[in-house]
Amino acid sequence: MSALNLTAIFLKPAFQIARISICILLMATTAYGQTAGKPVHLKCEHLVNPLGIDANKPRLTWRLDDSRRGAAQSAYQLTVGTDSIAVSQGQANEWTSGKLTSGQQLVRYAGKPLRPFTKYYWRVEAWDQDGVKLVTSSVASFETGMMDKKNWQGSWISDSRDINLKPAPYFRRSFQAAKKIKSARAYIAVAGLYELYINGQKVGNHRLDPMYTRFDRRTLYVTHDVTSLLQSGKNAIGVLLGNGWYNHQSTAVWYFHEAPWRGRPTFCLDLRLTYDDGSVETITSGKDWKTALSPLLFNSIYTAEHYDARLEQPGWNTANFDDRNWKDVIYRATPSETIVAQALQPIRNVERIPTKTFKKLNDTTYVFDLGRNIAGVSHIRAQGSAGTVLRLKHGERLYPNGHVDQSNIDVHYRPVGTSDPFQTDLFTLSGKGDESFMPFFNYKGFQYVEVTSNKAVELTAASLTGYFMHSDVPPIGQLKSSNPTIDKIWWATNNAYLSNLFGYPTDCPQREKNGWTGDAHIAIETGLYNFDGITVYEKWLADHRDEQQPNGVLPAIIPTGGWGYEWANGPDWTSTIAIIPWNAYLFYGDSTLLADCYDNIKRYVDHINEQSPSGLTEWGLGDWVPVKSKSPVELTSSTYYYTDVSILAKTAKLLGKEADYAYYSALADKIKSAINAKYLNRQTAQYGTGLQTELSIPLYWGLVPEELKSKVAANLARRVEADNFHLDVGLLGTKAILNALSENGYADVAYKIASQETFPSWGWWIVNGATTLYENWPIDAKSDISMNHIMFGEIGAWLFKGIGGIKPDPQRPGFKHILLKPHYVTGLNHFDATYESPYGTIRSSWKRVGKGIAYTVVVPPNSTATVDIPVASGQRVFESKKPFTQASQRGQNATSSTYTLQSGTYQFDIE
Ligand code: BGC
Repeated sequence: MSALNLTAIFLKPAFQIARISICILLMATTAYGQTAGKPVHLKCEHLVNPLGIDANKPRLTWRLDDSRRGAAQSAYQLTVGTDSIAVSQGQANEWTSGKLTSGQQLVRYAGKPLRPFTKYYWRVEAWDQDGVKLVTSSVASFETGMMDKKNWQGSWISDSRDINLKPAPYFRRSFQAAKKIKSARAYIAVAGLYELYINGQKVGNHRLDPMYTRFDRRTLYVTHDVTSLLQSGKNAIGVLLGNGWYNHQSTAVWYFHEAPWRGRPTFCLDLRLTYDDGSVETITSGKDWKTALSPLLFNSIYTAEHYDARLEQPGWNTANFDDRNWKDVIYRATPSETIVAQALQPIRNVERIPTKTFKKLNDTTYVFDLGRNIAGVSHIRAQGSAGTVLRLKHGERLYPNGHVDQSNIDVHYRPVGTSDPFQTDLFTLSGKGDESFMPFFNYKGFQYVEVTSNKAVELTAASLTGYFMHSDVPPIGQLKSSNPTIDKIWWATNNAYLSNLFGYPTDCPQREKNGWTGDAHIAIETGLYNFDGITVYEKWLADHRDEQQPNGVLPAIIPTGGWGYEWANGPDWTSTIAIIPWNAYLFYGDSTLLADCYDNIKRYVDHINEQSPSGLTEWGLGDWVPVKSKSPVELTSSTYYYTDVSILAKTAKLLGKEADYAYYSALADKIKSAINAKYLNRQTAQYGTGLQTELSIPLYWGLVPEELKSKVAANLARRVEADNFHLDVGLLGTKAILNALSENGYADVAYKIASQETFPSWGWWIVNGATTLYENWPIDAKSDISMNHIMFGEIGAWLFKGIGGIKPDPQRPGFKHILLKPHYVTGLNHFDATYESPYGTIRSSWKRVGKGIAYTVVVPPNSTATVDIPVASGQRVFESKKPFTQASQRGQNATSSTYTLQSGTYQFDIE
């Protein structure tokens, strides 16, 4: 079923809601006045005016800027064409949807076949709830790229085949622009990493392009608008290639140095020039390029970089450089058959972090402290004599003597010799005055940098700056509460999340940089509540499809050079294949990823079904890094298996695959029964021995029979009380516990756990100075002690759900309908949650006023909400100071009132 059909189903209840709330609307026009609405936030493939996309039916999305109560879209019309002025006047030479009666704001392009290398302009007209036309949107654009591998003209070139050669290669060629250039695009596909230069200037501000994929299955290309960098007459193109994950020279326990795709980096480039007269010329990579080794003597995505400024060749990437001594390039085979556009948010140096404190230990040793833990690089400036070598050792902690301690993060590194020290850049000065260095093709996880030199140098706090790097996903969630520790936990969670987002989600930015599946599905909601990251997950799920074995098995880390098909890849980890597409659907209302992964999810669950016909499976790691108690792996793994089958069944229904729906619904029921038969004691309402994880997991993932839910939840609350309101869970339990409590009447208990400041808790880390989340509960643990892990990060989502009470409705996903259920938990005086949903800003903000609560709600245009307001007996609900009566009371001892809200701002007082 298409997204369009879905709307048809949901339109009916939406109109019923519209009728019920007509009184609210009338009130709104007087109380709030009218604002003329307008379609805004036009995006294509979830990106703003993207360049170089390959999708032949791209997704177009928008939202309304309309603050009136009841603002909604009753109809829309899209106009797409190649002439921006014509499009702005409503003339389409490619597609007009015609005026369609629909509230849909995610529509696939359905016009003439798109052509490569073409800029398309589009605009949206929308009609409001009364059929009145809104102001027409501004014109947005998308530009197609290659669209088909056949359109590449350049050749894959490199300097060598030697994978052990250390220095990074430069490539260059100059050319004469025949006529006046109107526009120019560089298309560059790389196995490895690159920096591209035109006439001496670095192109763009991306870092670590292209993103890591399984290079022998899918290679990404990037499109750059380089018009402004070119000049008439002679021009030069320069390329510096790095190893990245393509040529992993460092040796560690995951054997990336033995990856089947490994090779000396190689690239293919088409520089497409469009001249003023409309003619096109393409400058390509080929035998007319020259190559030389660069001053970048060594680069490893995993460890560090070594750079010798004495070997710099000034002007190497400019037109008049003399490259007579440079070598010829060689041709190379294409690394994979699939060369596709990189259509996702790029990695950038997102935040500049100056040194906070600085210590000179002696004339050749300095320690810089950024004051917070990050993923990224340091930039050093120094002066010294030629040949002075600065060693920049990066780490997350210090020894008592003030030196950088890497013992928590270098444990899986297996260096051969001493030439590739862990997280340690080597910068050799040329002696030519003020010099600086920042790695090109590496990043690290660190807070401290110890700089040592072989000759005395004078450094100051200003000599070193940190750059927080990550996929530059726009922040879309905001939280503010009366508890500073909670606010810091949220911030630290986001720091850990971003530190682990580099075109794929990772476990940690230092010790591994692995795309650990389990960590990623645990963090998916934290990610999506806080950042607009769907594009990264769409790319990563393509990595999943590349890595899946024909029998459905997925590796524990994705991408992988082969490691991880044998260990740690049970359903508790690799359920990413189902859980991530499902969440993308819930948060964006976009079923593309579910449809793309449908067969993969099916193969995956069919495999488990074959292996475990009883419905129970012990395949998995279980509740990883627990505080103390260990829950049965069979219970947790079978629950994830159940979750995957349930998602598959729901997806089958969504996609109109009725037979699959029936089959997988029955399978899900069977698994649920098998789990309950073995682990649930129906007399005592206990699962297993009644541990926190044993009780939370069935509650959260929907295994508990309806009639026993409140008893199981009461058992969980008692268990937590017996544990002194502290956590006794590992990775799987942290995902479930807070939700299991707050969804079942124990929000206060959940909050008590969430706000603890003594061991074991998130707050314990914070009061001990954490600025990111850790991998282990004890701060002085002896193993599993990365200080920048996202795997305990569900709390960053739970704060939105369990306290702010903002949730997507699976029946009308993408926040077309919002489920609002705030919890005014004991211990908090106010809590303000804001979320930029696909329809616009959602706000759920409450504060205590005397004995009552003031509660502000914002429902975005074209969306509706069901708000469930906790009301104590004897309390009444007012909205804008008037009694609010649209409640569906729940029996006589009502403890909450449920209202259906149209879009707009509401000011409730519960008194
Ligand atoms: C990673 C974890 C991961 C785990 C699974 C660790 O080394 O850092 O986050 O999920 O292994 O075994």
